[in-house]
Amino acid sequence: MAERLLEVKDLSTQFFTHAGIVKAVNGVSFTLDRNETIGIVGESGSGKTVAALSLKRLLPARPGQVVEGSLMLGARNLRTISDDEMRGVRGNDIAMIFQDPMTSLNPVMKIGKQIAEAITLHQDKSKREAWKMAIDLLARVGIPDAPKRVDQYPFEFSGGMRQRAMIAMAISCNPDILIADEPTTALDVTIQAQIIDVVREMQAQFNSGVILITHDLGVIAEIADKVMVMYGGRTVEYGPVDEIFYNAHHPYTWGLLASLPRLDASEKERLTPIKGQPPNLITLPAGCPFTVRCPYRRDECRDNWPELEIVAAEHGVHCWVPVDERQGLRVELPHFKEPVA
Ligand SMILES: Nc1ncnc2c1ncn2[C@@H]1O[C@H](COP(=O)(O)OP(=O)(O)O)[C@@H](O)[C@H]1O
Ligand SMILES: [Mg+2]
Repeated sequence: MAERLLEVKDLSTQFFTHAGIVKAVNGVSFTLDRNETIGIVGESGSGKTVAALSLKRLLPARPGQVVEGSLMLGARNLRTISDDEMRGVRGNDIAMIFQDPMTSLNPVMKIGKQIAEAITLHQDKSKREAWKMAIDLLARVGIPDAPKRVDQYPFEFSGGMRQRAMIAMAISCNPDILIADEPTTALDVTIQAQIIDVVREMQAQFNSGVILITHDLGVIAEIADKVMVMYGGRTVEYGPVDEIFYNAHHPYTWGLLASLPRLDASEKERLTPIKGQPPNLITLPAGCPFTVRCPYRRDECRDNWPELEIVAAEHGVHCWVPVDERQGLRVELPHFKEPVA
């Protein structure tokens, strides 16, 4: 049986601001097993990063707060363990890489020193050993001439190389779980593919579970085993990757699929972005946050959050459109219809 690494249940995270309570994550649940990759996908502002930061307890303490849920890492609840234990978890169990490597790399410290410091902080290694490990890690993530590069500063690295260096630092502690938050968004397509390869190789080497956060379903198709689709801080649909691509049930997922670049279309037709704006998370309706943009909305949508409906093995959806009606609508993909006025 697969080894369960993480079980998140009913996670809700809010920001208590002067303008009001920002309901960034609303009752999100998912699991992660060893060697498994879950893709979390959704437009910008859907709560993906906040969900990840909640796990690592890295929210800005004021105004951010996890207000509900349990976050089980094995037998430990990440919501209730001490700050000391949490530091251990961050150093040994859950590593995170970000879209912008400069959020993790210190611009005025040599790359090797940064990685070595991360190692000696959490492992019983001498400075010398840690430096050697840094070189080895840089080589493993595909940095050419690692013995020389280790002595350089971040500004001497290209964007893709910095991303690799950050991955090297993240995996220096052999984490069980690697969270990659939009790791390729700022990079050009060739480098994107290389970084995805590095993440995949590292996962194979360390048998980690990977949480890959992205707004790009194309990246998900490359690497994820299962997908969670988020909108307005809610999970609107989740399932095995093939189910999400070939048997999606939520109109928002259809919208994401329709906005994927298509090879069979002319340049102008390629992208069909979902019309309308993301919801205001302070004045979020009690029901489905996608209601106002949904071409298939009905009376019950705005004020009532639909129960989870299991539509296939491990595939669940929250949507008021009756399932037989959905089957008919899906065939119109990828020509996502205009929202009704
Ligand atoms: N420090 C903060 N204070 C108030 N609101 C925040 C803060 N950080 C994030 N949010 C809000 O939480 C929501 C979800 O953000 P985020 O998780 O970053 O989205 P995503 O990663 O999906 O693009 C956004 O509306 C954002 O404005
Ligand atoms: Mg984000």
